[in-house]
This record gives sequence, structure tokens and C-alpha cells, in this order.
Amino acid sequence: MPPPRPSLAITRHLPGPVEARAQKDYRASLNTSDQPWTPGDWVDRTRNVDGVLCTVTDSVTAEIIDALPASVRILATFSVGYNHVDVAAAARRGVVVTNTPDVLTEATADIAMLLLLGTARRASEGEALMRARQWRGWTPTQMLGTHVTGKALGILGLGRIGSAVARRAAAFGMTIHYLSREPKPTVGFTAVHHATEATFWPQCQFLSLHLPTNQETRGFLNTARIAQLPRGAIVVNTARGEIVDDDALIAALRSGHLGGAGLDVYTGEPNFRAEYAALSNTFLLPHLGSATFETRCAMGFRALDNLDAFFAGRAPPDRVA
Ligand code: DGY
Repeated sequence: MPPPRPSLAITRHLPGPVEARAQKDYRASLNTSDQPWTPGDWVDRTRNVDGVLCTVTDSVTAEIIDALPASVRILATFSVGYNHVDVAAAARRGVVVTNTPDVLTEATADIAMLLLLGTARRASEGEALMRARQWRGWTPTQMLGTHVTGKALGILGLGRIGSAVARRAAAFGMTIHYLSREPKPTVGFTAVHHATEATFWPQCQFLSLHLPTNQETRGFLNTARIAQLPRGAIVVNTARGEIVDDDALIAALRSGHLGGAGLDVYTGEPNFRAEYAALSNTFLLPHLGSATFETRCAMGFRALDNLDAFFAGRAPPDRVA
């Protein structure tokens, strides 16, 4: 008799091919209603479970991890970001944590470019006008946006996604600048390295954020840093809402110091500051960075690859704790 398949609890409804593979290889419990788990669900639905496949909508706190049954030995998150998991608490409990890097790089970079172009070219206002059937016809001065070609784009966090955005922006004729202690290898684009903030911020006619969320980066884009951006600069965020000081960003959008903001991520999702929706110089998406069918399948398969490796006694390739 082969040993029983490991039992796996999946916290959200995942694309069909991912759930099908999970059900083939695991005694998988699915979340067909797709209701996010409450803390109580974490207790009820992990009884006698060997592993959990969770997502960015699960706030996996130390309390939740401490209350997990001893049977749970791995948490595989269906995301590259893992700031929603208390990895220190998981490490203390000996629970392995894995993420899904690489597979969502291109989709997220596409959304960053969509936000950049959409904000610069006032796509949201234009679309609203059409849907309201208020367009009275072409005029030489209607809804003038900001030119992208020839402008400077600052990348904050030149990792996988930041580099993929840089490649795209270079193809749009933008000059790329990045801030980091040491120069980084650039593949498929050239970029100006800045070792100091003092030289970086004044260059950024556009700024795309790609920092992870941690103690050092929470609220990183604050009033003092925004003040050093050129007047009319456009900020794009596909990373995490928490790296932006919302009060500072809203004030700069209101005063006109910033020309616009394209946002895909927010502090406290799915809630977000009402001011963003009230401003006309914002372009807002509901955390769609990785939202293509292909990418979400690839993320699910990557999470399952990690679980497979773990339960086969191998090192999971994307272990983060
Ligand atoms: C991630 O993977 O971290 C994204 O934010 C969700 O796809």
C-alpha cells in the first residue's frame, strides 16, 4: 500500500488546473465559496492537515501560526510577496514557508506600464467620459496628458520586477535611473545608478516602486522624499501599499506637486483611502499585478512544486523561512 497522500488545505479558490493538480496529488480541501478564512477557520480547517496553501489575503499572524496543529509543517503562499506571513513565528514553530517568485514578473511589469501610461495619458478620465456618454468631440486641448518618451523613470528596487519594468520603459524611449548601494547588473536595458538619494529623487519624472515590505521600507515614500521629486512627477506602485505614506502621497497629489499616481496596491486592502478615488489624477486598479490566467496557474503550480519537494523530502526551491 502506498502511503496516503499528504493532506493540504487551500485557503482560496484557485484556477481550475491548479485545483485539479492539487486534488490529484493531495487530499486537498478546497475553498469553493472563496470566502477568506477567519482566524476561526484557520483553527477549524487545519485540523490533521499537513500543509496549507495560502494567499496574500490571509493575514498569517504569529497568533495563527502558534495555534496551528503540529501536523502543519509547511505554508506555501501563492504570491511572491510574503509580508502577510509572520515568517519569524513560522521559523520558531519549525513551519517551512515558501513563495512563488519569477512566474509573475512579466505580468506585474505589464501592469506597472499600464499604470504608468494610464496615469500619464489620463486613461481613467477618458474612459469615464466615454462611459458617461459625455464626449463632445476632439479638441486640440482636450485632456492633455504627459509625454512618456524621452522622460526619466526612477526604479526603486531593481530586482526581477523592477528590471522587467525597466526593459519595457526603455522600449518606450525612457531613461532608466535606479537607487541602490552598489551598481546592479542590467540585462536588456541601460540604467543610471545612484548610490545616494540626493541625486536619485530629482531625476525621477516617473517613479516605479518595487521594494519589499519590511521595517525599513514601511512608509518609505514619505513627505521628505516626495518633496525631492520634480514637480509633476508620476508615481506608480505595484509592490505594496505599505511602502507609501498615504497622507504624504495624497497631499502631494492634491497640491499638484505630483502630476499623478497609478496604484495597484493599497494599505489595508481591500479598503483604501477614499481620497484616491476622489482625485482625478489617480489611476486605480484592484491589485491586478499577477492577474492573468496563465500567471495565476503558474503561481499555483509553483506553490505545488514547493509542496511536492517538501513532502518528497527535498528542499523546496522557494523556501523563505
Ligand atoms: C504577490 O504575488 O505578491 C502579488 O502581490 C499577488 O500576486
